[in-house]
Amino acid sequence: MLPETPCNGKHAFCAIPGAGSAKAADAVMGFGDWAPDGLNLQASHRATLSTDSTRLTIMPHIFCVANQKGGVGKTTTSVNLSAALHQAGQRTLLVDLDPQGNATMGSGIDKHKLDRSIYHLLVGLAGLGEARVKSPSGGYDILPANRDLAGAEIELVNLERREKRLREALVTTMADYDFVLIDCPPSLSLLTLNGLCAAHGVIIPMQCEYYAMEGLADLVNSIKKVHAHLNRDLKIIGLLRVMFDPRVTLQQQVSSQLESHFGDKVFRAVVPRNVRLAEAPSHGMPGVRYDPASRGAQAYLAFAAELIERSGTF
Ligand SMILES: Nc1ncnc2c1ncn2[C@@H]1O[C@H](COP(=O)(O)OP(=O)(O)O)[C@@H](O)[C@H]1O
Ligand SMILES: [Mg+2]
Repeated sequence: MLPETPCNGKHAFCAIPGAGSAKAADAVMGFGDWAPDGLNLQASHRATLSTDSTRLTIMPHIFCVANQKGGVGKTTTSVNLSAALHQAGQRTLLVDLDPQGNATMGSGIDKHKLDRSIYHLLVGLAGLGEARVKSPSGGYDILPANRDLAGAEIELVNLERREKRLREALVTTMADYDFVLIDCPPSLSLLTLNGLCAAHGVIIPMQCEYYAMEGLADLVNSIKKVHAHLNRDLKIIGLLRVMFDPRVTLQQQVSSQLESHFGDKVFRAVVPRNVRLAEAPSHGMPGVRYDPASRGAQAYLAFAAELIERSGTF
């Protein structure tokens, strides 16, 4: 249960699994009585400037790619968006926060051969500079993950500021990046909570299908709780339609309902179902590098351009 009074951090873990169920699940497409601004949180008050010894630097945009459902395209989005942002000249860090290490492998890094990983960073056994590596195929930096990270869930429970460990680690590298993307695991766990506490915003990839809104409402409830109790900077950046097949009438219907209900919270870019995106990870490459001309790659390049264009408004 959530505490009634502002949370002192000790209750944070309890808050997430208890995220409320969705009113939105009731109605036909699952929209229920959601208002068009159902994804808007109170204006953030993100500090925009930080200094290092040589220059004044805009803080990076730190975005979680989150959806508690598995297999909805979080990792594909994180990896391809990182590569597309890097290609567009943006200094980009990808944080693999999933013990499956799929973003790590998809970035061309063997998760079985890591000396240091995000696990070591979160439990205080390594600094960010020691854990960070460069993706040979994508060009961006990455904090890699492997199964060790599953152990962090348990170890973190007994540590101070357990939900703020990633946030505190990222503070040390603010001046180095324009974008930090966090690939979250498919759960509303302490790892995801670390991601949400570190981020300014959440990008939610979703498929245009019948039950998509049910999961979305649970996620939005959790984001609202983190916003209320732990991270006032957090907001929902937008919904990204992925694995879209325009030949399926239901997908078209859900897509246009998303647009009419959530307006500009729905990104213009739409990622189609495209086999080249699915093939790329087995080559250790982001799709945008594996086959830049493919429709999937083009969609992620367009999405990166849209994010950069709108970044002044986040
Ligand atoms: N647009 C797409 N077209 C085709 N396959 C996709 C697309 N996006 C993701 N996939 C595939 O779907 C599966 C799940 O995607 P993934 O990004 O790993 O989801 P998640 O990280 O949410 O679990 C993977 O096999 C991936 O290659
Ligand atoms: Mg994933």
